[in-house]
Amino acid sequence: MARPARKALVVSTPPSAARPRGLPRHALRISAAALFVTTLVALSFAVMYRAAVSRSLGADWRWDSLSSFAAFEEEEDGAQGDDDLDSEDLKLERVLKKASMGDKTVILTTLNAAWAFPGSVIDLFIESFRSGVRTNPLLKHLVIVAFDWKAYKQCVKIHPYCFALGTEGVDFSEEKRFLTSGYLEMMWRRLDFLRVVLEKGYNFIFSDADIMWFRNPFPHFYPGVDFQIACDHYVGNATDLRNIANGGFSYVKSNERSIDFYSFWYSSRLRYPGYHDQDVFNAIKHDPYIVDIGLTIKFLSTNYFGGFCEPSRDLNKVCTMHANCCIGLRSKIHDLRIMMEDWRSYLSLPPNLKRLRTSAWRSFILPRINMLRVKKRKRREAVR
Ligand SMILES: *[C@@H]1O[C@H](CO)[C@@H](O)[C@H](O)[C@H]1NC(C)=O
Repeated sequence: MARPARKALVVSTPPSAARPRGLPRHALRISAAALFVTTLVALSFAVMYRAAVSRSLGADWRWDSLSSFAAFEEEEDGAQGDDDLDSEDLKLERVLKKASMGDKTVILTTLNAAWAFPGSVIDLFIESFRSGVRTNPLLKHLVIVAFDWKAYKQCVKIHPYCFALGTEGVDFSEEKRFLTSGYLEMMWRRLDFLRVVLEKGYNFIFSDADIMWFRNPFPHFYPGVDFQIACDHYVGNATDLRNIANGGFSYVKSNERSIDFYSFWYSSRLRYPGYHDQDVFNAIKHDPYIVDIGLTIKFLSTNYFGGFCEPSRDLNKVCTMHANCCIGLRSKIHDLRIMMEDWRSYLSLPPNLKRLRTSAWRSFILPRINMLRVKKRKRREAVR
């Protein structure tokens, strides 16, 4: 390859001047580098375990070197001369615009190679939209954000709106050794990306790809709220900060408050090294800074937005179900498939039987939930 350090595939971030209350970005960059080194050194078994369990991605993440990604990109648009940061930025703007709803809302998910192969998580994700109730039309608003070139290549085969997101200063070719820190780095990279989307003026629903969409969620969102997020554990009151959020599903309005909040959240990783975005959210949700900027937060009920941690028990209500609290790609795919089967058999019932079908999923979920609840509680206590 002619060009040694291809810096593209990185979303450029506007100078901090654009954000009156934002934190100095150069400081963040330096600290980010420091954090990365620290994380590598300080990785304990506990941290590795947490990364694997809490969003249950860990062990499935495999990194392809960005150089092969670059090679692929050059093949694809070889004629393009100056692949600078702006061209990536423009690519993002273009894909957001195409996928956008009338009110500038997009649906976003992220994808890596392990979740991209045919029959894997991303196929089930898209299949759920197709077989859900009034979810199929939402597919044209979905942008799949690929973390590596295999995922990108697979994405363009199965979906019209794909975006390749790169990561600056992290060598993902050191696949095994850096797996866990790489996982954390990528979670934070994603959060930073979501802030960029907000800065571009787009509201978004972010959904992990291991969430099945069974019904259109829009009727169940709260109107006029800046930030709404699904829960691992819902205490029954949407404004109660004791709800335990799950970062895999959120609906965020683009405005000054939400942009400030995402900057704050991202910068908070420096105060909680070794923790990922979801744990840090549950730690900072009480921070007076959030009240100060005026951000409104609501938690989404697990009655509608459930997961294996706390299932949505009524099939007449369920909007989404997340394969959280489920370790390993193989068991995740297995469980998601069974969940799809359960959903299909529910759909095939006549209306009067549907109404009676309040208990939902096969019991395979339960032993896992009980095992993991204890572990998750311990983890939450650790972050406080
Ligand atoms: C819900 O939680 C909020 C914040 O903790 C509290 O002010 C409110 O009284 C609660 N509502 C109910 C019905 O318990």
